[in-house]
Amino acid sequence: MENSFYISTPIYYVNDVPHIGHAYTTLACDALARYKRVRGYDVFFLTGTDEHGQKVEKAALANGETPLELADRVVPRFQALWEKLNVENTDFIRTTQQRHQKGVQKMFLQLKEQGDIFLGTYEDWYCTPCETFWTETNLIDGCCPDCGRPTEKLQEESYFFRMSKYQTQLLNHIEANPDFIQPRSRRNEVLNFVREGLRDLSISRTSFSWGIKVPGDEKHVLYVWFDALSNYITALGYPDDEKGNFAKFWPADVHVIGKDILRFHAVYWPTFLLAAGLPLPKKVFAHGWWTVEGKKMSKSLQNVVEPNMLVEKYGVDAIRYFLLREVPFGLDGDFSHSSLINRINSDLANDLGNLVSRSTAMVSKYFDSVLPAPQASTEADTALIEVCRDRMDAVDQHMDALAFNKALASIWEIISAANRYIDSNAPWTLAKDENQHARLGTVMYNLIETIRLVGLCIEPFMPDTGAKIKDILGLCAAEKLKNSGEWGLLKPGSHICKAPPLFPRIELD
Ligand code: MSP
Repeated sequence: MENSFYISTPIYYVNDVPHIGHAYTTLACDALARYKRVRGYDVFFLTGTDEHGQKVEKAALANGETPLELADRVVPRFQALWEKLNVENTDFIRTTQQRHQKGVQKMFLQLKEQGDIFLGTYEDWYCTPCETFWTETNLIDGCCPDCGRPTEKLQEESYFFRMSKYQTQLLNHIEANPDFIQPRSRRNEVLNFVREGLRDLSISRTSFSWGIKVPGDEKHVLYVWFDALSNYITALGYPDDEKGNFAKFWPADVHVIGKDILRFHAVYWPTFLLAAGLPLPKKVFAHGWWTVEGKKMSKSLQNVVEPNMLVEKYGVDAIRYFLLREVPFGLDGDFSHSSLINRINSDLANDLGNLVSRSTAMVSKYFDSVLPAPQASTEADTALIEVCRDRMDAVDQHMDALAFNKALASIWEIISAANRYIDSNAPWTLAKDENQHARLGTVMYNLIETIRLVGLCIEPFMPDTGAKIKDILGLCAAEKLKNSGEWGLLKPGSHICKAPPLFPRIELD
């Protein structure tokens, strides 16, 4: 529906506790969801947990608990982290919920009744950690080509989905919709995979029991990906849609995922939907992976970056900013404490923090904290206003492309322009000359107005800082880009507080 926007994160496995990789996906979605909201969209932002499958069952067993006990213990850790990171999701789906199970079973039955699901025998090489079957030719020295761990030969009765039947339709869709799979390099990967030919997909298991039962044949549980992918529609109320969310929000505007789960989202999921006669998501965007200080993040290396610790040490907004600024969305990146601290000191403390504290201190000192009215403009003024307009347009375009780092870079160009504007107009010199009082007022107005716009633009990325800036300028929280994104809306006469430092500098030890 026009003016609605549906964005999703993957649902996270509960056999792991949340780390920086999970936080990355969720924060990117949150920033985009918030951006769309301040632009006036009705946003549905979904996240949740993936709780079935052999991996979870094994982890629970090893821990001496039932899979549901494990899930019930881990789910609050994800939810608490999202709260701590200021994530404003609309809903949180758990695949063990009734609403989800019902929707998945309904989809299974529909596909079975129409002949797209049939009973057969499955034999292949199975990688348990990845929950993936591989053909002999896929294996590397007998091991899983994804994770390198040993695979085992499994044969079992299984329900199959006629994925092969939808190969041409999927290929046509990908070719006709160049933005469907992003970034481009990922799209090419998927195209090559589909062109090689799609096999029918085994979508049930009898070798373990922790999953959604196959309706009418309960020794089978559904393959965890058939179960998990459906969350994107069951959370909207499919198939009953009592609240009308499915009609309003489907198809999704974007599924944001990591590059490792692209095939599931760009091949399996669309073919399930084609079979069910449902529209395909408008976009699947696969982001890159974070390494840590140059190394793959792993439990065995004990280098897993724990987001709670980062927030306590550096603050929420610094983390939100860093993750989305440091690396182009779609590429891999490296996390290091020194690059985080550099960003905090240079971009946040220096550029943004100084702009706000210098400007507000001068309004306090020269105008008793009352915002003066702007008078005649000079070329320098119109140039600053032009930078604001131009870069704000750029932010819009970059957000549409999920180019978060470019959006932030554009906002920082405004900040740099404002800092240069201070230096070249030297308000402290103007203040010494009575005749320049009006000019000084204009300079101060332009600076504070620029800060207002910067505050509105950074709010989706750094909600606390955006709110602090509003407070300093005496604006109400409801001011948003949609209704207040134009130059010149700040009223002369407003009370401007002298701002405390927004981001203290951090010493590198
Ligand atoms: N449960 C599945 C998704 C089902 S969606 C229908 C799953 N879960 S996961 O918990 O293993 O991973 C969730 C997301 O975290 C994936 O998008 C994955 O790419 C991301 N990341 C995990 N480690 C990561 C990094 N080191 N860096 C960036 N993202 C990473 O897969």
